[in-house]
Amino acid sequence: MRILVFGRVGQLGSALAELLPSHHVVTFLDQPDVNLAKPETLPDLIRQIEPELVINAAAYTAVDKAESEPQLAELINAHAPRAMAKTCQTLGIPLIHYSTDYVFDGTASTPYTEEVPVAPKSVYGRTKLAGEEGVAKETDQHIILRTAWLYSHIGHNFLKTMLRVASEGKPLRVVDDQMGSPTFAWDLGMASVALVNALESGRDDVYGIFHATNAGVTSWHGFAQKIFELAKADQVDLTPIPTESYPTPAPRPAYSVLDSGRLNRVVGVKMPDWQDALTRCIARL
Ligand SMILES: NC(=O)c1ccc[n+]([C@@H]2O[C@H](COP(=O)([O-])OP(=O)(O)OC[C@H]3O[C@@H](n4cnc5c(N)ncnc54)[C@H](OP(=O)(O)O)[C@@H]3O)[C@@H](O)[C@H]2O)c1
Repeated sequence: MRILVFGRVGQLGSALAELLPSHHVVTFLDQPDVNLAKPETLPDLIRQIEPELVINAAAYTAVDKAESEPQLAELINAHAPRAMAKTCQTLGIPLIHYSTDYVFDGTASTPYTEEVPVAPKSVYGRTKLAGEEGVAKETDQHIILRTAWLYSHIGHNFLKTMLRVASEGKPLRVVDDQMGSPTFAWDLGMASVALVNALESGRDDVYGIFHATNAGVTSWHGFAQKIFELAKADQVDLTPIPTESYPTPAPRPAYSVLDSGRLNRVVGVKMPDWQDALTRCIARL
């Protein structure tokens, strides 16, 4: 298939660049060749490439900064994917797009399925939800993968921050009352490839929203503990703290656990355990 991917340099884009099977003809678009803050430019860009599938791995992902840049976040996270979806609908091709646990309010105590009502509490969450809604409004041929706590050996993320701060010999205070599933971008990439394969084989029952995170649950503090154990940095001074001791501009969901069961039922993808994923990621650092 001819596949157009927006966003090659991010965590997910890097995974897709490695994982998309080589028989596909894949074009990646990044800044400055594309600026998602200018959604009106997207239809022509997409048409020029004549793709059979569009994947949007790009987004405004600075959760706290979004609180002070809501218009920019809205353009990139909501207007741009909607413009992509509209063009895909005109061309009769599918769109794979990504969203987040931040569409939920985080007050649940059991894993969120795709059907649970959304209630975002931050600018980032609201713009990502608007992106989901815009995509779904423009085309039925959409796949939206909601993920959470994404990290990788590439890019900026919690794993890299923990290892950097630890290498500086500084003590660390990490929240232990927010629960979620750390997700290796490569495993999200593998789930995406399974959906691309399903589309390539002509399946039309793989549309809609899927949750896709690594399996298992921990806190940010538990994630940090495991990082230091696997990275053999046992000497780190790591203290658990409550959320109220670490205020952030954007509120964080207390409970971010997503149920990835639909992904397993529809395309047979069983997301690996988060500790196994972390071991594989750290081996690549
Ligand atoms: N990171 C997480 O913890 C997390 C959690 C849940 C869901 N998600 C979702 O998962 C998806 C992938 O996230 P990620 O962590 O891989 O993101 P990322 O590493 O932050 O990468 C974002 C990508 O978007 C591109 N981008 C940003 N602004 C752009 C613009 N104006 N024009 C063109 N490209 C632009 C970036 O390119 P430049 O570097 O050139 O700006 C980069 O390629 C996103 O939809 C995100 O919302 C992420």
